[in-house]
Amino acid sequence: MKKWYAVVGDPIAQSMSPVMHDQWFKENALDATYIPIHATAGSLEQTINSLRSLGCSGFNVTVPHKQAILPFLDEVDESAAVMNAVNTVYQTDEGKLIGANTDGAGFVKSLEEFTDLVKGSVLLIGAGGAARGIAFALQSAGYGPLYFTNRTASRSAELAADMKDGHAISIGDAEDRLGEFGLVVQTTSVGMNFAQEGIPLDPKKVANGAVVADIIYNPLETEFLRQAKQAGAKTMNGVGMFVHQGALAFEKWTGVYPDTKKMIDMITMKVG
Ligand code: ATR
Repeated sequence: MKKWYAVVGDPIAQSMSPVMHDQWFKENALDATYIPIHATAGSLEQTINSLRSLGCSGFNVTVPHKQAILPFLDEVDESAAVMNAVNTVYQTDEGKLIGANTDGAGFVKSLEEFTDLVKGSVLLIGAGGAARGIAFALQSAGYGPLYFTNRTASRSAELAADMKDGHAISIGDAEDRLGEFGLVVQTTSVGMNFAQEGIPLDPKKVANGAVVADIIYNPLETEFLRQAKQAGAKTMNGVGMFVHQGALAFEKWTGVYPDTKKMIDMITMKVG
């Protein structure tokens, strides 16, 4: 019987997850399809219950429901518990809905596909859910120490305190000490969709050849990445993270890790 999968969000029409997963089902000769579902905060519980009773094999959750969905699931795994947010749901044989989060691990996979990097000290810009997920995934993969800087200093201090070797520094100190980091990860929404103009910090003191990553993929190059590249960094946008978080979800559902390189090219073309 044909299986079906979904992504739940608000708005959802712009999501590239359906074309991505449908392409992977085709490439892997799997008889399945993937549909976008619009759910508001008020209709989320009903939507999840319907997905359960209509036999949805697995689904993704996106903005703004990544935290709100938690009470409607049967269990969450460690990745979702750490982030207190879910982006992927799969079903056990007994029909239990389990929430997972592949965002952080997706970032690390995309980083390691992009470059061979010494696992040294990292600067993360931002202290929201995205920063938290990426920080835990980097820590599990052996990166550190992890430095955090954020507009609201209390949030970076809190996140740093949750890490094994975490440190919070001011934006000014981060700008001055930028040359010490082999990897800089921009996780704020500054620069997204051209709506939030500006840069979260000045990248001109970045070390030559350091990797500077931005998790934003629309636009493909934020102003922050443009300036970091100009200052001598190797820059990576958020397309890889988007594709790998999807690939990790696809693997949970089907057991197959799909082709990510071709997909990164396809999504880049669609966005660009
Ligand atoms: P997400 O789950 O996407 O990380 P979030 O939890 O709302 O979303 O966090 C957004 C991050 O972007 C935060 O680090 C936020 O900084 P504050 O903690 O100071 O709010 C950062 N951010 C959003 N808009 C910003 C702006 N205009 N300038 C600087 N930082 C901004």
